[in-house]
Amino acid sequence: MIVDLEATDRWQAIEELVNNLVATGKIKPENRDVIVAAIKKREQSMSTGIGFGLGLPHATTDLVPEAVSVLGRSKTGVNFDALDHQPVKLVLLFLVPKGQIQKHLHTLANIAKLLHKADFRQALEQVQDVAALNEIIENSLGRAKSPVALLPHKQIELRLQTAVREILSDADPASILVRPCLDPKFGDYQSNALMSLAKARKMNPRQLASDVVARLDVSEFCEKVEIAGAGFLNFRLKISALAHSLDSAARGEHLFFAKADKPKTVIIDFSSPNVAKPMHVGHIRSTILGDSLARTLRLLGQRVITDNHIGDWGTQFGMLLVGWKAHLDRAALGRDPIAEMERLYKKVSAACVADETVREQAKQELVKLQGGDEENLKIWREMIALSERQFDEIYARLGVKFDHTLGESFYNPRLKPLVEELFAKKIARESEGAIAIFFDDNPHLKKHPALIRKSDGGFNYTTTDLATLEYRLKTWQPDEIVYVTDGRQQLHFQQIFAAFRKWRCQLPAPSSQLPKLAHVWFGSILGEDGKPFKTRSGETVKLADLLHEAEERAFIVVKTKQLERPEEERVPEALWPEIARVVAIGAVKYADLLPNRQSDYLFSWDKMLALNGNTAPYLQYAFARIRSIFRKGNVGQASSLSPSEKKLETGKMPVLLTASEEIALAKHLLNFGLTLEAVSEEFRPNFLCNYLYELAGKFTAFYENCPVLKAGDASRASRLALCDLTAQVLKLGLESLGIEVVEQM
Ligand code: ARG
Repeated sequence: MIVDLEATDRWQAIEELVNNLVATGKIKPENRDVIVAAIKKREQSMSTGIGFGLGLPHATTDLVPEAVSVLGRSKTGVNFDALDHQPVKLVLLFLVPKGQIQKHLHTLANIAKLLHKADFRQALEQVQDVAALNEIIENSLGRAKSPVALLPHKQIELRLQTAVREILSDADPASILVRPCLDPKFGDYQSNALMSLAKARKMNPRQLASDVVARLDVSEFCEKVEIAGAGFLNFRLKISALAHSLDSAARGEHLFFAKADKPKTVIIDFSSPNVAKPMHVGHIRSTILGDSLARTLRLLGQRVITDNHIGDWGTQFGMLLVGWKAHLDRAALGRDPIAEMERLYKKVSAACVADETVREQAKQELVKLQGGDEENLKIWREMIALSERQFDEIYARLGVKFDHTLGESFYNPRLKPLVEELFAKKIARESEGAIAIFFDDNPHLKKHPALIRKSDGGFNYTTTDLATLEYRLKTWQPDEIVYVTDGRQQLHFQQIFAAFRKWRCQLPAPSSQLPKLAHVWFGSILGEDGKPFKTRSGETVKLADLLHEAEERAFIVVKTKQLERPEEERVPEALWPEIARVVAIGAVKYADLLPNRQSDYLFSWDKMLALNGNTAPYLQYAFARIRSIFRKGNVGQASSLSPSEKKLETGKMPVLLTASEEIALAKHLLNFGLTLEAVSEEFRPNFLCNYLYELAGKFTAFYENCPVLKAGDASRASRLALCDLTAQVLKLGLESLGIEVVEQM
């Protein structure tokens, strides 16, 4: 919507536009005067009439929760005291909350940057609303070819948002989404946004749907749009739009996903094993899940910070110190440090149960460590260094890296002042000699106050996590913090999040802006007998042993597969160990990522290493098979293409989609980005596993029904392009899961 201005000077124009924001409910009437004053104050320091007939009055104010803007147009021109002394024809008024100014500055900057272009100014004069303004900016910046413009469902979504907002100007575009249809019978994409929009406004959803459809022109992308059920919109893609998208992908302009245009800062806290204890299969889930989330979010252009919150502090060190001083076997420590430390821990903790004096000794050693005793600190540091070295070996095998490894002890200096602060602010109070945060207004947490100082004066896991949260907010200003641990820590994180909500309301901005906190929890790994996964002798399975066994078993699978083939088709034997390594690590990771993370899963070597079924080896094999088509046909990648492939590559020859299997494969490729987005929104890599499995299945159907190397020139090139895109998506998809591929297998 655009306001026709009656104003003749900039002060009046500002009032008129602000009045319009009040009338349309974008700002509250009681805030009007303060906002007008703020804009005028800004305007007095220097006119925002930046030339070429444009004025950009603006203010930063927390009286709006989100950025708002309104456009005014003047037929006669407004005196804006502009830099070029010209009257202003178009006034864009912007209000931005304080913490968001960075985010919106680029819109203003881009307008200023583009203003010298005559066609940009002309387009500005035609502009109907702010969404259109952004579109013009994007186009003028030469970003018309961004992946978004090349993905039909994104285009349909943008047009749908515009059409809805012509009718409901206050509707939040972020709630108007276009998603794949679950049942292809109804179409390729659907939107159910209109039903909730109608419900919230007590409107008839089908009536709203037909009003929206009347304003919606998506004829370039879709067959006719259907209204179904209570107000669903169903869209069926035109083959031409599908082919257009594949053409641009074949030219390398995108791979069916778009990077976030406003990157979020996301901290991922994962793996986090405990010092002096072996990493076990429970930590493997956190490591694998967290790493794949980090990879997916990064691929989508988010700013990801990974932090390994290792457990390097706590009561176990009292016992470890007693053991170290009395029973340490240096030779054993040299061979396998974590095993030796575990032995010491078990020995002393058993002794503690039986013997009061050992218990007292452990307590004394702990007090000395906490008090900064040099000898104890030295031993403690050595224990950490030895543990970290062994953790790092495992991370290297898994291909996992961290940006930071700030262990619990890093936060020690902050614990005491933090508890004092929370106490002084009345967020925490005393109870039976201890200090705790109570959640009286929370029905669920009412019965579970969070202890932050024990009655003996010691701090705990909760205190450290609150200090950690505070540090992360200050250091990285995250939009989201994600914690990946097993499901038994749910109550702990509910307490942390609730405590944080109480506390942050009292912090000064920008810390008071609430980032999204997510506990991404997972179930346990069970042995094939359905009981917690243990070794035959009943010990917890160590990660290093597990990876070793995986490689041995994978080698047998690889060898068997090779020996089944005639000799001339075998992969050279020298490559088998490397293939086995990639298959083994891939299989273990995939088995962990495929089930819904919140359910327990059965650990089965045979299942995870099967070459048929929803497994990593199956997908890795599908990739290698596609690569072998290129080897067989003597077709290289982009650099060594045949003339018809070159044409395809330069966009002169279109992808041809005729067979139903080709169309089905192409449509599935198109949904890669949507799948990545769903993974990153719900923290569920299993969506991507299932997407890739379906992709491999659709590829098989295509390959069985559509000859590739033997097809005529034009379809050969087109089908090779489909093969290549499938291989690229398989590879990048597996990489997002942290899984490698090999060229031959
Ligand atoms: N070290 C803990 C464990 O092994 C996990 C730490 C998770 N992260 C956190 N910020 N609490 O159970």
